[in-house]
Amino acid sequence: MSQILEIRDLKALAKRRVPKMFFDYADSGAWTEGTYRANEDDFHKIKLRQRVLVDMTNRSLESTMIGQKVSMPLALSPTGLTGMQHADGEMLAAKAAEDFGVPFTLSTMSICSIEDVASATTKPFWFQLYVMRDRDFVRNLIDRAKAAKCSALVLTLDLQILGQRHKDLRNGLSAPPKFTPKHIWQMATRPLWCMQMLQTKRRSFGNIVGHAKNVSDLSSLSVWTAEQFDPRLSWDDVAWIKELWGGPLILKGILDVEDAEMAARTGADAIIVSNHGGRQLDGAPSSISMLPKIVDAVGDMIEVHLDGGIRSGQDVLKAIALGAKGTYIGRPFLYGLGAGGKAGVTLALEIIRKELDITMALCGKRDIRDISRDVIAEGL
Ligand code: FNR
Repeated sequence: MSQILEIRDLKALAKRRVPKMFFDYADSGAWTEGTYRANEDDFHKIKLRQRVLVDMTNRSLESTMIGQKVSMPLALSPTGLTGMQHADGEMLAAKAAEDFGVPFTLSTMSICSIEDVASATTKPFWFQLYVMRDRDFVRNLIDRAKAAKCSALVLTLDLQILGQRHKDLRNGLSAPPKFTPKHIWQMATRPLWCMQMLQTKRRSFGNIVGHAKNVSDLSSLSVWTAEQFDPRLSWDDVAWIKELWGGPLILKGILDVEDAEMAARTGADAIIVSNHGGRQLDGAPSSISMLPKIVDAVGDMIEVHLDGGIRSGQDVLKAIALGAKGTYIGRPFLYGLGAGGKAGVTLALEIIRKELDITMALCGKRDIRDISRDVIAEGL
């Protein structure tokens, strides 16, 4: 791992260690993957002001997200099937985040359950909710998140129906998993991954199997998920969830100024400017390109966060400069997990922290809380 210097290195190692169908599941976007690529590419178009001869000692990256202290303004995004990048993946990533002092967000579609992650950590983590048609299941899930003392609910709004990712279809990724010669070969060529998987009992969707009505195994699960995402989800449901939960609420998947204005009026604590990492509406703009407009429209009413395309500390600084109070990484921590379990996630966070610290200093700033649009250079 000593030769790993940037997130791209972790990605290359994860590709060698994780079976193709699961690596591709992380490294994919909807249809042409245009929005997935734009999320990263648009960060490179933003340039930073290089400043000299300012005091760069005693720097601080500490900040807050929804009033909670963070060692840097970065959280781990909720990602489904994380326990397939590495056995017990959600528990390992949550522990890495906890030790690092940044929030971990557990997905509804995780392999490890809320209770598993609670048993692996000592501080509160965040829980991401998909509102399923079965509202009793949703109520129960919220009760479980409360019992586990989750300190924020991240409500995802941009997956009422599922975007199509060609790689998953081509790879035959499914629940229950298929065991064609191709799949068996993919796993057999990753012996370390296979050994980890044989040693854990957590290979199913821990928040769902045994909890949702008539879902007892992987095949009943696939029938259930196919019909459970709710195309009728509305702003009234957001109000209902807010009341049911009663704690800090973050609305995820806002990419439009009008939606941001609606979201701000719900009284939620934050919104995440996000296009689901380019996995839903291909052809939508990148998250970073929409951030300034959304901050201008609602930044004085609600905390604005951003995810999508962050691959370095420079990207984090650019998002903070353009008005985000917090940022998130999805794939970068998944690559870390696939490459090296908990140590890999820690390394991903360390890489980004170091890049953020050096970048901030070279922009002539010492405190992340003082970063504003004045660190952005004029265009060409
Ligand atoms: C996701 N994302 C996601 N979002 C969510 O709210 N619930 C989920 O279960 C998932 N699952 C999921 C799986 C995988 C493999 C990926 C890559 C992403 C979206 C995620 O939370 C976040 O919005 C993006 O990952 C951010 O973009 P980057 O950092 O991956 O570029």
